[in-house]
Amino acid sequence: MKRILMIGMLLFGVIATAMAWHSFSHSTTAQPTTTTVHAVAHQPRRVLVLYFSWSGTTKEVAQTVHRQVGGRLVRLEPKVSYSSDYSTVSKRAGREYFRHQSPAVKTDPRLVDDYTDIFIGYPIWYGTAPMVVKSFLQRANLRGKNLYPFTTFASSRLGKSPALIKRAAPGARLLPGLAEDNPGQATTDVKRWLTTIRFK
Ligand SMILES: Cc1cc2nc3c(=O)[nH]c(=O)nc-3n(C[C@H](O)[C@H](O)[C@H](O)COP(=O)(O)O)c2cc1C
Repeated sequence: MKRILMIGMLLFGVIATAMAWHSFSHSTTAQPTTTTVHAVAHQPRRVLVLYFSWSGTTKEVAQTVHRQVGGRLVRLEPKVSYSSDYSTVSKRAGREYFRHQSPAVKTDPRLVDDYTDIFIGYPIWYGTAPMVVKSFLQRANLRGKNLYPFTTFASSRLGKSPALIKRAAPGARLLPGLAEDNPGQATTDVKRWLTTIRFK
């Protein structure tokens, strides 16, 4: 009789422990999942407006973008500056493009680490982004970041630059770009663009 009583108590102990563990493990796994989803959904935007400009047109548009999206405005610079002479810069840009070069960059690629949303502006050179822009994108860690390209140009609009960006920053989320042919009208065009891509 005593033996039966002892076995009964032992069984009760095992069942009670199992039930307690079950409810504990359920409450601890459910809790963090909910918290994590909440934190990601409400992650605040940190905006960077980065631009390369040789003769100042893209700089003007970048300033307009910056006025509307806020954040930080930074000029992207090559290690060796481009000549201010048109024929010299054309020769260098052509050489870099046709030889698939990646010219050294002065601007630190770690700059992007602090931002979630990066506007990247450049003039179209040889039908695409200047190779110094490609160099920067290749060196920066853009995984999971939103990239918003904008260009100025003579006739090519965005040219082949979205494809170049996709190759240089495959982990980023590339949004539809803005091709601005009239910096004087950029305030209106940028506003419309931001609405279209649902940034604002
Ligand atoms: C080396 C070089 C190559 C260019 N290639 C093109 C081109 O292929 N297609 C185009 O539409 N415009 C081309 N342009 C014109 C520039 O994209 C345009 O003038 C741009 O607005 C200049 O911007 P920035 O003042 O910021 O340098 C080229 C200009 C330069 C200097």
